[in-house]
Amino acid sequence: MNNNPTTIVIFGASGDLTKRKLIPALYNLYRKSRLHKELQIVGFARRPYDDQIFRDQMREGLLTFSENTFDAKLWEEFAPKITYFQGNLTEADDFIKLKEYLDELEKSASNRLFYLSTAPRFFEPAIEYLGAAGLAKEDEGVFARWRHVVIEKPFGHDLASALKLNQFVHTVFDEHQIYRIDHYLGKETSQNILFFRFANTIFEPVWNRRYVDNVQITVTESVDVGHRAGYYDSAGVLRDMFQNHLMQLLALVAMEPPASFDADAVRNEKVKLLSAVRPIDLSDTVAAQYIGYCDAKGVAEYSRTPTYAALKLNIDNWRWKGVPFYLRSGKALPRKTTEIIIEFQKPPHLMFGLSDASDFSPNILSLCIQPDEGIHLSFQAKTPGSDQDMRSVEMDFHYQTAFEGKMLPDAYERLLQEAIEADASLFTRSDGIEAAWRLIDPIIRGWDNERSGKLDIYESGSWGPARARELLARDGRGWREECGSDDPEGN
Ligand code: BG6
Repeated sequence: MNNNPTTIVIFGASGDLTKRKLIPALYNLYRKSRLHKELQIVGFARRPYDDQIFRDQMREGLLTFSENTFDAKLWEEFAPKITYFQGNLTEADDFIKLKEYLDELEKSASNRLFYLSTAPRFFEPAIEYLGAAGLAKEDEGVFARWRHVVIEKPFGHDLASALKLNQFVHTVFDEHQIYRIDHYLGKETSQNILFFRFANTIFEPVWNRRYVDNVQITVTESVDVGHRAGYYDSAGVLRDMFQNHLMQLLALVAMEPPASFDADAVRNEKVKLLSAVRPIDLSDTVAAQYIGYCDAKGVAEYSRTPTYAALKLNIDNWRWKGVPFYLRSGKALPRKTTEIIIEFQKPPHLMFGLSDASDFSPNILSLCIQPDEGIHLSFQAKTPGSDQDMRSVEMDFHYQTAFEGKMLPDAYERLLQEAIEADASLFTRSDGIEAAWRLIDPIIRGWDNERSGKLDIYESGSWGPARARELLARDGRGWREECGSDDPEGN
């Protein structure tokens, strides 16, 4: 636990994220006694609220999004720690006033966490004015107190803007003060990938090109773009999901073991991995849009923004040379699931007389990130009573049953705690963001240049375009969907 009082300032506090995720996460950390009692949470936004109106809204949010942990008595204790500061992110003076407000509010020397839960166009002014008001400067000496800034996604719109933003942020904050958030890294199951790989000895020896045939990362969503259409139409699936979440999952599953769990040791390995990915050939990519997308309010009439993408990529290092990684993500698909499939090679020789050899399924390890969190290993077993028949069976681990009674904390809970405890391992470093953009940016530009005929369409509620299946079929493979599905091919 952090030993010093902490003040958390949320910029863009009237937005959805604050009541949906941030306040419930802070409330739950407080409930678990993970925060210093002398905690202050300041909501900064333009709307003319007062403390009470803001608290009431946050209470509503808790009741809606974290109802099962809400406790009226505890809320009475927690609510007074929340205050509201009316300010404008583009007014330098408001940051000077904020500093005065904080100096007055804090009862003793406090750490300060500035959370930029704002539209990206406000990142630069907010950072500039935090610096100008002296709010970025850390206190040293006996009363050493840190100043951290958490920056929400999207971090940049492309490689050039990400580089520029990194440069800009570094003019005010040192890298050790910057926490670029990717909420997929806060999910327990994402973190468990490293524990699974590096706290066990039996998997790592086979985690390479000698045993693995291919790796698949699938992040599907059943929802469509909904009320975020305005933002989404200028982003598209590669910026919204691949540059961040899928690249981070890829790094976790494919990176080399770091020597320690230190933030930089972990992040060095991730960057090394992303830098070893071969530039992706456009012929190894599929872009598609669900039918009806252009009818959503906020979407341009003839928008060509992809809501689905599938990619094949290669990692040019000793461990992975020759092993294809297939990634796909999209909206308006049959169900929400995030899973990583490690498909192992088939045995070199089968002595059993199979009636249909094409039915033979290799060993498959599925890391189910959500919603049915767990890990499954499938292998062949002899069908009882038969002569030589066999079929796939599974060994299962489910969080729900293995850790009975333990609720998986929300990703934001973990991430806020880490940012407060000054552990940046679950946050993306500047070179990590840039390495991911280096892979994704050329695809976006390629798709933009080759407008004619490259964007497929798919029915809402289907598994996406046929070309995504062909991407694997041409390598003699198929998408696998193992986590809680009746449809093993996900087709
Ligand atoms: C966000 C994307 O980063 O992740 C959204 O902007 C997406 O479009 C969301 O819906 C998915 O997150 P989760 O945690 O629900 O899988």
